[in-house]
Amino acid sequence: MLVYLDGSYLAHTEARVSAFDRGFMFGDGVYEVWRVRDGRLCYGEMHEERLREGLDALAITKPAEAQAGAVTEIAARLLEESGLMQGDASVYVQITRGAAPRTHFFPPHGTWPTVFAYANRIPDISEARAAGVSAITVPDQRWHRCNIKTLQLLPNVLAKQAARTAGAYDAIFVRDGVVTEGSHTNIFAVVRGELRTHPLGPHVLPGVTRSVVCDLASTLGIAMHDRAISAEELMDADELFFTGTTTDILPIVRVDGRPIGCGHPGSCTRRLYDAYAHTLSR
Ligand code: PDD
Repeated sequence: MLVYLDGSYLAHTEARVSAFDRGFMFGDGVYEVWRVRDGRLCYGEMHEERLREGLDALAITKPAEAQAGAVTEIAARLLEESGLMQGDASVYVQITRGAAPRTHFFPPHGTWPTVFAYANRIPDISEARAAGVSAITVPDQRWHRCNIKTLQLLPNVLAKQAARTAGAYDAIFVRDGVVTEGSHTNIFAVVRGELRTHPLGPHVLPGVTRSVVCDLASTLGIAMHDRAISAEELMDADELFFTGTTTDILPIVRVDGRPIGCGHPGSCTRRLYDAYAHTLSR
């Protein structure tokens, strides 16, 4: 696989990062994932903006790759040379605080961020989307800055693995009796005819797909509220779905072994998915 590392394009087997890179030692960095349709980065600027906000929030020096349009250029070469100009793909970009002798405090001025990127095919989950998926609830043990897309994903990894071990597709985080989001997705519910999702803030990632779905709901005349869903309301929801760059919109039809609504993907989810899929092809 071709990858991008600090200004060079090379085979992933040739890519070398220092063992003292702070991404490796501390998870000290941010990442971003773009969705690609037929070689075009979807909602490219929104992802770029979130990447820059994450770097600012963590006081990581912004490298040239974080400037407007820089990822588009890198992605173009990665996609072209990886044979991914047709169909659905993703581009991953990771920026760490760089390599320096291990100290908890920041490294000296002049320590340059490490920038790594690659492009990949997005797995086809159309069958799962048609049938709907199952999920389990897990306690949200993450920190209080989940709005930053950091590399520190251990609670997310443990949650996703717990779901797999339980034979479910994914996990739903619950903090203080309130549903926050999925292990790598935001979550929406239709409760008594109203579409709801957790408000933006420190406990959820401001998902790009989340934002697009909120706009689509308004266009389609679906009543929408940024109001959190309690764990009880979750089980009584008429419809539930995950949203994310590599997930799009994915109906959830069972939670903790109990059916949601009629146990099949609902009509509101389907309408939103159709509208969302349309935006990707623009
Ligand atoms: N995950 N919440 C979390 C915790 C996420 O990690 C993600 C994205 C989302 C959805 O955000 P967006 O719609 O902007 O993709 C919500 C990416 C895709 C990942 O970790 O691979």
